Amino acid sequence: IAAALSDGPLKGRHVLVTSGPTHEPIDPVRYIANRSSGAQGTAIAEALAALGARVTFVTGPATAPRPRGVQVIEVETAQQMLDAADAALPADAAICAAAVADWRVTSAAGSKLKKDGSGKPPTLDFAENPDILRTLSTHARRPRLVVGFAAETDDVIANATAKRARKGCDWIVANDVRPETGIMGGPENAVVLITEGGADEWPRLTKAETARRLAARIAEALA
Ligand code: CTP
Ligand code: CA
Repeated sequence: IAAALSDGPLKGRHVLVTSGPTHEPIDPVRYIANRSSGAQGTAIAEALAALGARVTFVTGPATAPRPRGVQVIEVETAQQMLDAADAALPADAAICAAAVADWRVTSAAGSKLKKDGSGKPPTLDFAENPDILRTLSTHARRPRLVVGFAAETDDVIANATAKRARKGCDWIVANDVRPETGIMGGPENAVVLITEGGADEWPRLTKAETARRLAARIAEALA
């Protein structure tokens, strides 16, 4: 199938996709993570490949099965994801679907933290992680199209519009991830595409259909 479709509208284009959560170590056996399954990023990578793109897929430890027909680079932390994304440039487009941990533990312990018998829990110090989307958006070798995601629980369009400006990316794919929507970890998505031209609300679709629609828009933008 990949060979048959390799002359699709994205033939000859290189697209970088980040996906999944990141894990930020506390000590050798513990980490901080989030609920991202990597399902939407995986579907996007497959949809781009189906249109003929060469896809570099940089993923954290996601539970979703890895996409087929793309180059998969497995990472654990936000810093590793940034390094892998940077190494994948140049790219025609970058799609940052990863749920990157905002903070890492400043000095992860080299050996397992133990209870000391005092009943007092340890204190963890945090540092902010590098922003991969912002780094790519302001990069000397900036991809022509940079797309970010915004998982929000309140004021989806207002927050996502502000996020688009703050990140310096071209588009934001925003969604409402309040638990009652069933989107996080579920098979469907209902997104709003925020571009320079405003907000375009898409219907609730499967993540695969959302991915195909986004891949088609990307192909149009790069044509
Ligand atoms: N992102 C990234 N690197 C980070 C944080 C976020 O690349 N360190 C990207 C995500 O992949 C997503 C976009 O930025 O495409 C928005 O992520 P989000 O968590 O919604 O934005 P934040 O700037 O972290 O803001 P918030 O405080 O709302 O979490
Ligand atoms: Ca965040």
